[in-house]
Amino acid sequence: MDHVSVGLLGFGTVGTGVVHLLTDDQEKLKERTGCSIHIEKILVRDKDKIRKIKLDNRCLTQDARDIIDNPNIDIVIEVMGGINKAREYILQALRNKKHVITANKDLMALHGSELLQTAADNHCDLYYEASVGGGIPIIRSLTEGLAADRIQKIIGIVNGTTNYILSKMSQQPVSYEEVLREAQALGFAEADPTSDVEGLDAARKMVILSHLAYSIPVNLEDVTIEGITQVEQEDITYSKKLGYTIKLIGIAEYENHLIDISVQPTLLPIQHPLASVENEYNAVYVYGESCGETMFYGPGAGELPTATAVVSDLITVVKNLSLGITGHHIFLPNLKKQCKPAEAIASR
Ligand code: NDP
Ligand code: HSE
Repeated sequence: MDHVSVGLLGFGTVGTGVVHLLTDDQEKLKERTGCSIHIEKILVRDKDKIRKIKLDNRCLTQDARDIIDNPNIDIVIEVMGGINKAREYILQALRNKKHVITANKDLMALHGSELLQTAADNHCDLYYEASVGGGIPIIRSLTEGLAADRIQKIIGIVNGTTNYILSKMSQQPVSYEEVLREAQALGFAEADPTSDVEGLDAARKMVILSHLAYSIPVNLEDVTIEGITQVEQEDITYSKKLGYTIKLIGIAEYENHLIDISVQPTLLPIQHPLASVENEYNAVYVYGESCGETMFYGPGAGELPTATAVVSDLITVVKNLSLGITGHHIFLPNLKKQCKPAEAIASR
C-alpha cells in the first residue's frame, strides 16, 4: 500500500489545522507511514465561505455522501461537531468499511459504545485522541502508557475556554463576556459556548476518560456538573488574596465498584501544580495504584494542537492499514461491569 485517500467532514478551526498539517510536510508523513496521504473531499456547509487555506473548489462538497459513500476514500476524519448528523455519518462510514478519526467528545461521550462496537463489527479503526485535552495524548496514555496500572483517580482541567476565561479574569479585571468573545475568536470555544461555560464539555470529557480508565460505561446524568457562569470577578480577587485560585476541575474517582464524577469550580491553593495551568492549557492528573501520580499537560484547544492529535491518529490508522491490523485496537467498555451512581459514594 503506497497511497491512502482521506475525506474530511468539516473545515473549521480543527479541519483547517488538519489540512495544514497534511499539506505542509507531506515528506514527513510519508516517512512516518510509508504512504502518501491525499485529501479527496471536504464537507462544508458553505462552499463560498472565504477560508484560511485555499483549495481547489472541487475538493469541497455540501453532500456528506460524497465522502461516506465514496469508494475512493479509505479514512474519514470527522471534525464538524454536533451529535445527530455526526453520529449518522460516522456509522455509515464504518458500515462502508471506512476507518474513522473524530475530535467529537460530545458524540463519543453519548454514543461512544455504539460507535466503537460498530467499528469493531466492521473491523475498522475508530480513534478519538483529540476529543479530550486537545494536543495532550491523554487517551493513548491511559490505554497504552498506563495500561498495566489500576487507575484510582483522575483530576483534570479539561476545558480550555473556561480555563482561559478564569485565567484572564485573574490576571487583570476584565469582563466575563469580553474574555469569552476572545476565546471564541481564538477558536477554543464550541460553536455554542454554553456547553463550555456550563461545564458540560468538561463533563463529557470526564465521561470519556472514565470509560477508558475504569472500563465502565458512564452516563452523563450521573455526573455532578456546575459551570463557571456564577463565578464573579470579586470571587477571583478574594480567592487570590487568600492564596487560592479558582479552576474548573473535573474529578473521576473509582473505589470498590463505586464511581464519583464531578465538574465544579474549585478553590486550589496557588502552590498546587494545577493552579499554574493557565489560559487554554489543560492538565490531567492521574493517580495509579502502582505508578503513583502522573500529570499530563499541554494545549487543550485550538487549531494546530488539536489537529496534531487528529493527524497523529491518522498516522496510526495508516500504519495499522499497512500492517493489516485495523480494527484490532478498539477499546470497548465492559458493559457487564456495573457502577453505582455518584450519590452512593457521597452517602457512605
Ligand atoms: P467549527 O465550527 O470551527 O467547524 C465546523 C466545520 O464543520 C465547518 O467547516 C462547517 O462548515 C462544518 N459543518 C458543521 N456542520 C455541518 C453540516 N451539518 N454539514 C456540513 N458541514 C458542516 O468547529 P471546530 O473545528 O472548532 O470543532 C470541530 C470538532 O472538533 C467539534 O466536535 C469540537 O468539539 C472538536 N474540538 C474542537 C477543538 C477546538 O479547539 N476548536 C478542540 C478539540 C475538539 P462551514 O465552514 O461551511 O461552516
Ligand atoms: N471547547 C473546547 C475547550 C475545545 O474549550 O476545551 C477543546 O475540546
